[in-house]
Amino acid sequence: MRKAIFPGSFDPITNGHLDILERSTPLFDEIVVAVLNNPDKQPMFSVEERCEMIREVLKGVKRDGCHLTVESFSGLTAEFARASGASAIVRGIRAVGDYEYELRMALMNRRLEPSIETVCLMAGEEYSYVSSTLTKQVFLLGGRVEGLIPELVIAKMREKLGKA
Ligand code: PNS
Repeated sequence: MRKAIFPGSFDPITNGHLDILERSTPLFDEIVVAVLNNPDKQPMFSVEERCEMIREVLKGVKRDGCHLTVESFSGLTAEFARASGASAIVRGIRAVGDYEYELRMALMNRRLEPSIETVCLMAGEEYSYVSSTLTKQVFLLGGRVEGLIPELVIAKMREKLGKA
């Protein structure tokens, strides 16, 4: 059984993340979308809200027979991957600027768990500039984010903004 984790902050999940996920489903039997619970950061969405949104959004993702689940985790990604029985960590690379950060993480994670490989997939070029951070910034300043994040996430962001 080829099992991978796809870790990230996902605050919120973007269409770029979904692009990477759809590219990785043909490669694995099971992928756990692993949502980091990072108490040091002030996220827009709680970890529970992020997991719930991702579960909804995953209903529309092309699975190719791959079993997709969503879990939150705290602490080390490599440790979570090992405890989950995964043999790979999936990450996306949008442009050359991502490479150095991903390389450092992949090498550190390999040092921590030598049996787990990081698999980096190249994002579709239409998502090469899409990030959760930029999308949130644009949304909060009233810009259009349609096509960059799922509709459901935009609705949840509007709810948040209404509440704020
Ligand atoms: O979506 P992001 O913010 O790019 O994801 C980064 C993430 C969550 C993969 C990274 O910050 C991470 O792995 N954090 C968990 C703590 C950890 O394992 N740190 C060492 C990484 S080499």
